[in-house]
Formats: sequence, C-alpha cells, structure tokens
Amino acid sequence: MLGLSTCTSLWSLMNEGEMSVPAMGAETVVTSIDTQQFQGIGPSDLREFLDRIERAGELKRITAEVDPIEEMSAIVYLAARENGAPAFLFERVKGYDIPVLWNMWGSSVNRLAAAMGVPMGLTHREMVLAVRNRLGRKIAPVISDSKNPPVVANTLTGDDIDVFRFPAPKHWPLDGGRYIGTCDAVITRDPERGHLNVGTYRMMIHDRNHVALYMSPGKDARLHMERWWAQGKPCEVIAIWGVDPATFLLSGIALPKTESELDYIGGIKGKAVELLNGKFTSLQFPAGSEIVMEGIAYPNDVRKEGPFGEFTGYYARPTDPSPQIEIKAIHHRNNPILTAALMSDYWPSNDSALQFAVIRAARVWNDLDRLGIPGIKGVYAHPAAAGGFGMMIVSLEQRYPGHAQQVLAIAAQCPGGAYFTKWIIAVDDDIDPTDINEVLWAMATRSNPVDSIEILKNTWSTGLDPAQNPPEKRPYSSKALINACMEHRHLKVFSKRARLRKETYDRVLRRWTELGFAGEAPKIFTFEKDV
Ligand SMILES: Cc1cc2nc3c(=O)[nH]c(=O)nc-3n(C[C@H](O)[C@H](O)[C@H](O)COP(=O)(O)O)c2cc1C
Repeated sequence: MLGLSTCTSLWSLMNEGEMSVPAMGAETVVTSIDTQQFQGIGPSDLREFLDRIERAGELKRITAEVDPIEEMSAIVYLAARENGAPAFLFERVKGYDIPVLWNMWGSSVNRLAAAMGVPMGLTHREMVLAVRNRLGRKIAPVISDSKNPPVVANTLTGDDIDVFRFPAPKHWPLDGGRYIGTCDAVITRDPERGHLNVGTYRMMIHDRNHVALYMSPGKDARLHMERWWAQGKPCEVIAIWGVDPATFLLSGIALPKTESELDYIGGIKGKAVELLNGKFTSLQFPAGSEIVMEGIAYPNDVRKEGPFGEFTGYYARPTDPSPQIEIKAIHHRNNPILTAALMSDYWPSNDSALQFAVIRAARVWNDLDRLGIPGIKGVYAHPAAAGGFGMMIVSLEQRYPGHAQQVLAIAAQCPGGAYFTKWIIAVDDDIDPTDINEVLWAMATRSNPVDSIEILKNTWSTGLDPAQNPPEKRPYSSKALINACMEHRHLKVFSKRARLRKETYDRVLRRWTELGFAGEAPKIFTFEKDV
C-alpha cells in the first residue's frame, strides 16, 4: 500500500489525468484518477483486513464483557458518532466465545480504502474517483483450489444447527428479535440467466434453524425468489454472516440486475474472488468468509419479520411476513468472527452511510459517463441524508441550454440513483459536492424555487420510507430535482462570486505558520481569474 505521504500529492497527480478539464471560473477541478496510484490489492479475507486497519490505528478491540441484547449496539451508536471513529471488535460477548465486528466502515474513508487496497488518506471526493475507477473493471471469480479452506473447517448440520450458537445482537429496543444478517452478503441464483446475485439483506432469527429474510420490493434477491416460487420451486440461499470487506462493500450496492456482483467484487479489490461450492445447495460462496449459512426458502413459506431500526433512523416498516429460510448447514472457521452493521439516524453511526455516499455517487457518475453526458465534475450522495440514500448532488460545468436539467433527470432515474433518492441537486463546477456547506450556499444563492424545482412522481422507493403514509402507499415515492446552478440563460450577467486571488491565497498559505495558525490551511480550489 502507498503511505500517507504519497497521498498528499494525489490531488496534483490527479489533475494530470486524461479527463481533467479546467473548470468554469475555477482554477482546476479534479475529475479523473491516476490509475497508477491505485494498483493495490484489497485483502482476501476479514482477518487480513483487520490486520491492515489495526496497523493504521482504525480498529478498537473491546475486551470488557458486553451484552448482545441492545448493549453492543448502544456502545456502537455512541462511540461511532465521532467522525472517523474506528471499527469495533467486541471480544467478550456475554455468554459467547465468538467475537463480533461492528462499524466495518463507519465514517472512515480509510477503511473503505483498505478494503479496496488503495491508499489511505483520500478525501471523500478522491474516494469517489477511486471507486469509479475500480467499478470500471470486472474480474470474474474462480473456483478455489484450496485443499482445506478454513471456512469449512466446521460444518453444523441436522440437530447440531443452532443459530443461537452465534452472538447475534438485538440492535434497538423495539426490534422484532435478534438479527444475524446485518453486515452480511446473501447469494441467490437468477432462475433464467443463471448468474449469482450478492446483496446485503437482514435476517431475523426465529428458532435454531429458521430465519426470516427482508428483501425490499424490486431488489434482485427478491426478484429471484419470486421467479423461483412462480415456477413452484424452492429458492436456494447462502448467507455470509462473517463477511470479507470487499464482498460487503459491494453487496449493499445496486449493480446491474443482469450481472453478478462477484465480477465487480473482484474488480473493486483487484483480484478474482475465490469461490467454494456449496455442499447443500448448488450455489457458491467466497472462500474468504468466516461464517456461511446454506438454506432453502420454500414457495410461499413466510414468517413474521421486523420491526427493525433501519437506515432511515426509524422502525419504518410495520411487521410483515417475509420469506423464511430453513437452514440446511452452517460452516465456520475456527474461532470465527461474526459481522454486524448498525443502522441509525445520525450518519457517522450508520454503517451504510459512507459506503452508500461514495459508491452510489461513483455509480451515478459512471452512468452519466456511459450516456456521454459531458462536463461532470463531481457526484456525492451525502451520508447524512438517510444513510447516503436520500440526496444526490452532481456538480457540472454547464455547457449548453438544458444541460443541468438533463443531468438532474438522468441522475434521478439512472440505475445507480433511482432507488429512494428524494433530493437531486445540480450545482456548478465551482462547488464541491462533498462539502454540504458549499452545496447549501449554492442552493440559497443560485436557485429560485419557483423555477428551479421539478417533481417526479411515483418513483421507485422502499417500504421503509416513513414519509409515505398510509404504509400501503409504499414503495412509491417522489423526487425533487433542484437546479442550484447559475441560470444558464443569464450566465454572462450572473452576479460575480467574491473569491480570493490565487497569488494572495498562495502567499497566505506560505505564511500560515508564521501567522500563528496550527496545522494545514484550508484547501480551496476556486479563485478570481479576472484580475
Ligand atoms: C448494512 C446494509 C444493510 C442492508 N439491509 C437490507 C435489507 O435488510 N433489505 C434490503 O432489501 N436491502 C438492504 N440493504 C440494501 C441492499 O443490500 C442493496 O439495495 C443492494 O443493492 C441489494 O442488492 P441486490 O439488489 O443486488 O440484491 C442493506 C444495505 C446495507 C449496506
């Protein structure tokens, strides 16, 4: 891995990339990544990841005894509120000898970087570029040739199956039960195309060999299951309850429905995923897993699931029947590690927020690129907006009439952006979409609500959206497209932004310490050029 010192020059290196374009009124805006900087390979399993992040000071081991019922999650909720908080490995869970890892990403870009094998120390904006780069390649999985894969060192079958052997937590007081699959990856097979889907779906424990699986309408695993059941056939399911970081990173992301996430997981970590064949299903799973369940969902066999404190910060979905999985086997490594993810209202404590903020942004940017939309300078799905799901901000250099409106419409409905996102905001290229202060300033000074807002109705949403009532109205929603760009018709006469002269900025930077300020001066990237 490249060290932190290398990263300080990353911004300037990236400006030399082939897609860098001088921005309107700004000195330079980074829009591309120097691929040479991103040759690293992500860890092949969770343990290698933990080694890497521990060396970087990003892992905290908690050795005091904690209760899996509401106490572990409460500790994570409080301790992860601080921006940049570490991952937490609870080593002594009351009644168990199996540790639980929480906050795999939390609010740390460094841990996303570690999962991909790219340098630590990137800004959010640089991380979006790194993910764009990695999503642009696919590496097909291979079948592992390992003679003794650690994950199948232990296999529980028949009467030995007991989910309660694992310290599955109860997260929130009104949750319907204990959840074993929150930081997980669920694998199903598309009945027609045959490819494997990987998605993160929660599972509520019912008894020693049954869990109920919640899949939001329109999600791939749910579509698979519906189609297997329509044929009168059971749906095979594998769930990875102790998951490796690269698999978890992408299993929560909507990737093309016609392709397997496994190819993208290989791409994001720079190495083919090694797979093992299931012993009780015809599915495969990553050999680098800690704990793997193989099970079957029989047609129309449903059972109560929820409520569950979700990424929205609400128990938004009333208790409903969900497909029940009958567990056929559980495989696990010696001394396995269970993984868990907290969903909550306050973003640094919401384990999906940064992941969605960065990866959904990269997906939308790639979608815009594929359609040949020019002038995109940045995309970000702010993590505070319902765990990175509620808002998408696109910064662009306006090049032609209607350009901003076109970008808004596409960002709102392209595959990477269509789900849930309620607020889609276009800003000019002098605005950093990852800096919410700049975005709010642009909205307040460049938009004119009577003209700048369009509404799309009946768009794809989720049963978890608390704003759609009565709940039967879900999963439809609406989207506001907000044009917070300077009015294109009047660009030439739009009031001039007050900004620093570059030479003055550079002089102040040189004098920063002399002036008595500690640390680095703030970085800004837009300067007055008409003097
Ligand atoms: C930590 C985490 C937990 C999630 N839990 C669920 C869930 O319980 N149900 C669900 O439908 N989606 C859940 N998601 C979102 C899906 O994983 C995501 O939409 C993904 O794209 C689904 O993949 P698929 O459509 O390829 O199956 C979760 C995501 C994360 C990151």
